[in-house]
Amino acid sequence: MEILNGKEFAKEIKEEVRGKALAMKKKPMLACIIVEGDKASEIYVASKQKACTECGMLSRVVRLPNDVSQQKLQNEIKKLNKDRAVTAILLQLPLPKHLDETSAINTISPEKDVDCLTNINLGKLFAGNSDFAPCTALGIIKLLEKYDVEIEGKHAVVVGRSLLVGKSVASLLEHKNATVTLCHSKTQNLKKYTKDADILVVAIGKCKYITADFVKKDAVVVDVGINRVDGKIYGDVDFENVSPKCKLITPVPGGVGPLTVACLMRNTLYLEENSNRE
Ligand SMILES: NC(=O)c1ccc[n+]([C@@H]2O[C@H](COP(=O)([O-])OP(=O)(O)OC[C@H]3O[C@@H](n4cnc5c(N)ncnc54)[C@H](OP(=O)(O)O)[C@@H]3O)[C@@H](O)[C@H]2O)c1
Repeated sequence: MEILNGKEFAKEIKEEVRGKALAMKKKPMLACIIVEGDKASEIYVASKQKACTECGMLSRVVRLPNDVSQQKLQNEIKKLNKDRAVTAILLQLPLPKHLDETSAINTISPEKDVDCLTNINLGKLFAGNSDFAPCTALGIIKLLEKYDVEIEGKHAVVVGRSLLVGKSVASLLEHKNATVTLCHSKTQNLKKYTKDADILVVAIGKCKYITADFVKKDAVVVDVGINRVDGKIYGDVDFENVSPKCKLITPVPGGVGPLTVACLMRNTLYLEENSNRE
């Protein structure tokens, strides 16, 4: 068994981004919008700002109160859309229950939609564009490629169908010619599918749900889950029992998480490089 070391690879990606960003006349700027009230979101936004500094890029945070209206939120997004200094906009999710995430996300200009979550950018992704994708999904594919994991012709099973992770990574795997099965909470006999997976990606948000009996011997397992229990972080895969069976597996923490941030930096750079602004 070998570990897919996301932490190390994330450093490499960030170094590469830094080199390119420092050479640019106009520094890329990431603007994060945070609606206050979610502790984990505060930590994520702080780590994204830190990563921007490390990568020679600029960052800005727009903080909105927990009871902000939909209209005020969308007005703030529109201001950032127009702001020529801003390269990329990230709306930190989840939003409080009274806000409509889909409408808010689709207010972001597709040219600045760094997490590739607007309908336009998702449409391009699902139609076959593999260059720009949600950061976590992109990070997973880059990690598999880094470790020379053969994707073409393999059976890839993705558990979880969110746009942010499951559907996006399934699409990217399919673009790489895997045969993809996408499972979700209504899938009957989940084990039947996961046990046949050459590549198994799990993004369900259920602590240690995938046990050894769900996994084929010598499978490649990517654990996206982040579950906080008693101050510690665990994945969706029962690492201790599953890892001896695997060819390759991501740890949690230190696997997909750091790669998500690194790919956010890469996507910010990508948007600046592909920007039509003068
Ligand atoms: N490492 C990172 O950088 C990173 C990035 C993003 C997310 N995450 C983590 O990844 C996990 C998933 O995130 P998400 O945003 O994709 O979550 P999400 O939007 O809540 O989606 C969860 C998905 O899992 C499916 N699911 C839930 N229970 C299941 C079960 N028992 N069997 C099969 N499928 C099941 C759901 O099915 P239905 O569609 O039928 O409800 C849904 O499609 C979370 O722990 C999150 O914190 C990590």
